[in-house]
Amino acid sequence: MTKKSSNANLRKANKAKNDEFYTQLSDIEKELGHYKIHFKDKTIFCNCDDPAESNFFKYFALNFEHLGLKKLTATHFEIEKPSYKLEITRWLDLNHDWKIDLKDTKKIKLKQNWDFRSEECIELLKESDIVVTNPPFSLFREFIAQLMEYNKKFLIIWNQNALTYKEIFKIIKENKIWLWYTFPKDFKEANWNMKKFWNIAWYTNLEIQKRHEDLILYKTYKLTEYQKYYNLDAININKVKDIPMDYKGDIWVPITFLDKYNPEQFEIIGLWISSSWIEIWVRPYTSEHKKYRKEIQKRAAVDWDLYMIKDWIVEVPYARVIIKNKKL
Ligand SMILES: C[S@@+](CC[C@H](N)C(=O)[O-])C[C@H]1O[C@@H](n2cnc3c(N)ncnc32)[C@H](O)[C@@H]1O
Repeated sequence: MTKKSSNANLRKANKAKNDEFYTQLSDIEKELGHYKIHFKDKTIFCNCDDPAESNFFKYFALNFEHLGLKKLTATHFEIEKPSYKLEITRWLDLNHDWKIDLKDTKKIKLKQNWDFRSEECIELLKESDIVVTNPPFSLFREFIAQLMEYNKKFLIIWNQNALTYKEIFKIIKENKIWLWYTFPKDFKEANWNMKKFWNIAWYTNLEIQKRHEDLILYKTYKLTEYQKYYNLDAININKVKDIPMDYKGDIWVPITFLDKYNPEQFEIIGLWISSSWIEIWVRPYTSEHKKYRKEIQKRAAVDWDLYMIKDWIVEVPYARVIIKNKKL
C-alpha cells in the first residue's frame, strides 16, 4: 500500500469512527414527547440504526401502542455484506399477548447492506411516513437531500455546524425545516465510553408550536447602544435577547437565533460568514461570494475574524444570520 492510499484509508476510518455515536434513550424521550400527535397511525423508519442497539427503535417499540403507530422499521447497516431489518406492525401480535411491543419484533433478511442510499432502503423510505434517527455525521448533506427529494417528514439529530451549510441554511430560510426543543449532549461511543458534544441539535419538518411563538423583545433601538455597520444599512447584535423591538432595518444576529425563529415574526434575509473581509450571501449575491462560499463549505467551520464597524473593530465570531422584523 502506498503512503498516499494508507493516509486515505486512515482518513476514511476516522470519518467512520466519527459516525459511531449512539443516542441515549432519555434524550430521545425528552424531544419526542413534543411530537406525539404526529406519530398516530404512522409508519416510522429508523434508517441509520442498528436495531439491536438503537434507542430510537427501543423508544418506538416500547411506546408502540401509546403512540398508536402503524408500523416501525429499523435497519442494520453493514459496510460490505447483506444485512437485516427489524419490524413491528400493528396487526402482528407474534406472542399472542394482546399487545404490540418489543416482543412482537420480526427479523427480516435483506439482499443489500442497508446503506440508506441502497435500493431496498429507498423502497422502504417511500413507504414510510416519518424518518427518525441520528444519521452518520459524515453523510448529513446526502441524508437530508434524500429526505427532501422523497418529500418525507423527519426528526433527526445532527451537528449545529450544519446550519451554516449552504443547502441547509437555504431550506431553513425557506421554512422547510426548523429546529429543536432540546439539546442532547452525552452520546455513547462504540467502545461504550460516553462522549460530550456541545453543538448537537434536532432538525425537523414536523409542525411544532414553538416555531409560532414570538420571541419576546423588550429593548428599544438607540443609536448609541447598537453597533451599526459602516458600509451596510444594518445593525449587529451579539445576544439574541438584545434584538430591539422597534428596528425596521436588517439585524445581524448570532446563529443561536435560529432555534427561536418564528417565521411570522421575522424574515430571514441571509447568512454572513466571517472570514477574509468578504461578506457572503448578503444581497446582491455575486459570483465572488459564490466562489468564496464554496471554499467555506469545504471547511464547514469558519474562522474568527475581524470586522470593522463604525469606529470600532469588532470581533464577529463564526457567522451572523441577517433578519428583519416583519411586524414593523
Ligand atoms: C451517529 S450513529 C447513530 C446510531 C443510532 N442512530 C443512534 O442514534 O444511536 C450513525 C449510524 O449510522 C450507521 N451508518 C453509517 N453509514 C451508514 C449508511 N451509509 N447507511 C445507513 N447507516 C449508516 C452507522 O453504522 C451508525 O450506527
